[in-house]
Amino acid sequence: MTEFLFRDIPDMTIEQFEKFSKYILEVAGIYLKEHKITLLSNRIRKRLRELKIYDYDQYYEYLTNSNHSNNELIHFLEVITTNESYFWRTTQNFEAYKNIVLPDILKLYRNREIKIWSAGCSTGEEPYNIVIESIESMKTLGFFPFIVIATDISNRVIEIAKQGCYSGRKIERIPEHILRRYFRQSKEDPKIFCIREDIKSKVHFKVENLFTSTVRNIHVIFCRNVLIYFQKKEQEILANMFYDSLLPNGYLFIGHAESLQMFNTQFKILHTEFGTIYKKEI
Ligand SMILES: C[S@@+](CC[C@H](N)C(=O)[O-])C[C@H]1O[C@@H](n2cnc3c(N)ncnc32)[C@H](O)[C@@H]1O
Repeated sequence: MTEFLFRDIPDMTIEQFEKFSKYILEVAGIYLKEHKITLLSNRIRKRLRELKIYDYDQYYEYLTNSNHSNNELIHFLEVITTNESYFWRTTQNFEAYKNIVLPDILKLYRNREIKIWSAGCSTGEEPYNIVIESIESMKTLGFFPFIVIATDISNRVIEIAKQGCYSGRKIERIPEHILRRYFRQSKEDPKIFCIREDIKSKVHFKVENLFTSTVRNIHVIFCRNVLIYFQKKEQEILANMFYDSLLPNGYLFIGHAESLQMFNTQFKILHTEFGTIYKKEI
């Protein structure tokens, strides 16, 4: 079958969409609304082309058949997740981190290694940004040991994150002096900037589904622009899981378009000059 014929495969039917979206909800907790039919069809079509499978039902059988499912599930999750990320995203979170969260955490945990979790870290911009801001904060707060644990359900994005090389939109908001200090410019392609090795070594990457996460004893969680993909029920499950993963008086940041206000959680909601932060106040 030629490329032309693959492009000719129409969007999936509502019934097919329902079958796939039910499966996606089961395996990744992600809820797709019906208007995402074209988006999902486009993304699965790529996979059909690679596997030379000619329709969605056949692909569904292939995906859910236990002989292939573990392997194919990895590819499937790659095509359905949205991994948009960039450095210096919603910088008011980092202002709150440096001015409110870290001073408070260090009061209680000064001689302990501070553990920060980037949950849904995509291609690594967020965890590396946390390392840079943590080091920058030491100018006023003094030295403290820390590590960043960075997890994502997608193996592909974690591999990109581990390389730590970026260009274009992903780095355009980084202040010039920070870019010079924490990155090195590629000799082969001057448009590409790679994060310094010692900064890289502060981040521990792991492929992990948030719904089966084992990350615990954390001081600060960043889970930004991830909850938006889930239904209310799953968002509440994750909010409570984050609460359990935090140490007493730990903090949670979520995306600026996300909120936990309507949920039944034990988080204390702090409205600060740098936006809303959630605290496990004990
Ligand atoms: C839009 S990116 C957000 C990246 C980063 N946090 C930021 O704000 O720039 C969302 C990430 O969540 C990940 N994700 C989606 N569902 C997940 C799940 N169930 N477990 C872990 N990661 C998940 C996706 O693979 C994607 O990389």
